[in-house]
Amino acid sequence: MAKRKKIALIGAGNIGGELARLCANTQLGDVILFDIPAKEKFAQGKALDLEQNSSVLGYDARITGTSKWEDVSGADVLIITAGIPRKPGQSRDDLVATNLPIIRDVANNAKKHCPDAFVIVISNPLDAMVYEYMRVTGCSKKKIAGMAGVLDSARFQLFLAREANVSIKDVRAMVLGGHGDDMVPVLSMCTINGVPATQFIAKDKMAQIIERTRKGGGEIVNLMGTSAYYAPASSAVAMAEAYLLDQKRLLPVASYLDGEYGYKDLFMGVPAIVGGEGVEKIVELPLTDEEKGMLAKSAASVQSVVDVVKKTPA
Ligand code: APR
Repeated sequence: MAKRKKIALIGAGNIGGELARLCANTQLGDVILFDIPAKEKFAQGKALDLEQNSSVLGYDARITGTSKWEDVSGADVLIITAGIPRKPGQSRDDLVATNLPIIRDVANNAKKHCPDAFVIVISNPLDAMVYEYMRVTGCSKKKIAGMAGVLDSARFQLFLAREANVSIKDVRAMVLGGHGDDMVPVLSMCTINGVPATQFIAKDKMAQIIERTRKGGGEIVNLMGTSAYYAPASSAVAMAEAYLLDQKRLLPVASYLDGEYGYKDLFMGVPAIVGGEGVEKIVELPLTDEEKGMLAKSAASVQSVVDVVKKTPA
């Protein structure tokens, strides 16, 4: 008998709730909303609300709230948002001390209960958290990715579309590197339906857009007092969909680099083909010297946080 796919969401907070809504509404699979025991009832309440929503919207997916790892067993996809989000004035890297024990706890349990899942990490500081998850579980580099590039690129594309006064549907852009203020918007790959975006947008405006993209998460934290959740959830669902439906999409995702772009033993945002085998192939772009320089700066930032993680005893 054919069975619906099982999608486990570790963390039933703001992003977790929106992830659950999207996964159910797009019929991607049944959803397990997992949180710590103190938040189990909250997760169950959210799940019940979303199941009642199915009666209005007409989806068959089952949504269950839990704090028991046994319920996560056999998940096809695991999306991790467990952790504390940023508050105004904090950088993502400021979260490392709080979120490191949480990702270790999640990784140890996931290793036991769903070792074969395709894992998407969202918790920040992203590139270090995804590194630690892989270190603890020893999972294959194809079965794990961090969600940052799809979101950062979405922010870049929106600002480009508004400035050029064109439809968001025609904007193609990619942001690579770490998920921090040194991220690398790749101007040489940025087009309005194939036409170089630089034809539509003046140099000074482009510089402002790049700066706004780099600080895009912080802008929302300052407005809301907590981090974004709609676009982060959609971005992770695009990755989950690419895997579950074997779409072979070319997406910027935080992938394990083993020599690609000249970096080793580091997770960083790069374009990759995401399909039924997970992160199937990292695509190496012909970057300009300036872009290579920006990527090196971003890699150094990521490495400094990973070094903190490596020095922190388990
Ligand atoms: N296991 C499972 N869930 C946990 C654990 C754990 N060990 N520790 C904390 N959580 C849960 C919290 O109880 C909370 O419900 O993670 C949830 C996080 O939800 P929010 O506080 O609403 O945060 P959210 O906005 O969803 O962001 C989560 O994603 O983008 C990043 O920076 C952001 O690191 C943050 C994460």
